[in-house]
Amino acid sequence: MIDVDQVRADTPGINHLTHLLACGSALMPESVLNAVVAHTQLEAQIGGYEAQARQFDLLDGVYRSVARHVGADTREIAVMENATVAWCHAFYALPLQPGSRILTCEAEYAANYVAFLQRAKRDDLKIEIVPSDESGALDLAALEKTMADDVGLVAITWVPTNGGLMNPAAEVGRIAKKHGVPYLLDACQAVGQMRIDVVELGCDFLSATGRKYLRGPRGTGFLYVQEKWLDTLEPAMIDHFGAPWVERDRYELREDARRFETWENSYALRAGLGAAIDYADRIGIDHIQNRVGLLADAARKALSDIPSVEVRDLGQAPCGIVSFSIEGKDARSLVKQMAASGYAIGASAPSSTRIDAERRNLPTLLRIAPHYYNTEDEVRGAVECLASHIQ
Ligand SMILES: Cc1ncc(COP(=O)(O)O)c(C=O)c1O
Repeated sequence: MIDVDQVRADTPGINHLTHLLACGSALMPESVLNAVVAHTQLEAQIGGYEAQARQFDLLDGVYRSVARHVGADTREIAVMENATVAWCHAFYALPLQPGSRILTCEAEYAANYVAFLQRAKRDDLKIEIVPSDESGALDLAALEKTMADDVGLVAITWVPTNGGLMNPAAEVGRIAKKHGVPYLLDACQAVGQMRIDVVELGCDFLSATGRKYLRGPRGTGFLYVQEKWLDTLEPAMIDHFGAPWVERDRYELREDARRFETWENSYALRAGLGAAIDYADRIGIDHIQNRVGLLADAARKALSDIPSVEVRDLGQAPCGIVSFSIEGKDARSLVKQMAASGYAIGASAPSSTRIDAERRNLPTLLRIAPHYYNTEDEVRGAVECLASHIQ
């Protein structure tokens, strides 16, 4: 059980507004804020390099925290500035034969899809969208059926940006593994709201962000690279940190996933990411998932009682992101009206998940995404407030 009073006491943001957008950028706990500020202060007091040296153990511990959180080995983790950079590092490094196919899902995120388009054009690849089943999740039978020797990569989004769908990430991993195809999983909206075990997921690469359900600072993320790739995978872009310049005509790639990193980083933000993961792990990810699910279900139920509201979440058991549209109402204006009333909710444009949006003819959707520090009263209050704005 989560001590809700305690987590609220640890969260200074709750005194300023009712924040219901964990899938955007959640409220940091005080320990995260303190870690970022303390490191920044140290940099101001003794200098950036000196602060890094003094905090070496703490900063090194961030890799252990990330690895523990996702069931990886520390060597398999690179700390990045966001999920997109993490994802791109894996994607652009992968050698893909001309003519090969990239298999993805209907819920794929815009940043990933434009990268598919770029490499498809440049490297003569084909993008194939695996259809969804009747629940809206990636259809596993269709994936299995289309698997063949010319598939170079399976790359899917686990939880999309535009709703509560949870794609069957582990089952996809089993199919990819059976066919010996690399599997790149975008876990950006999943990390921090549900248990992540890279071994169970069977993914070769996993990308995630710090600022969403993990409650870390903005400008943080990480990449998991399964060990077997560490011998062979050449980053698309290197510097002398990831690949030390060992002789005039030669560099040597680092042996760990940090070959994807560069020399310069925000150590203050890294300290914040580590603090965020440690905080989440102290609460317990299963407790978090349970409470986020309860609050999201309460929001879904209350919203579906309003006649002009259509809840748009896909999947048999949607997670913490509640997506909906309101007949005749502009989503962006409603977000502004809600903000003026003290509620942070969000909107998601069709262009962020174009395949799904076109298939379902979606307008810009509204999103409510409670975190475990929210209360049932806050969720109820937000829905009542929304109802008052649309009358
Ligand atoms: C599914 C998904 N993948 C990737 C990203 C990108 O994350 P970041 O902004 O940390 O690069 C987002 C951001 O909203 C997302 O929703």
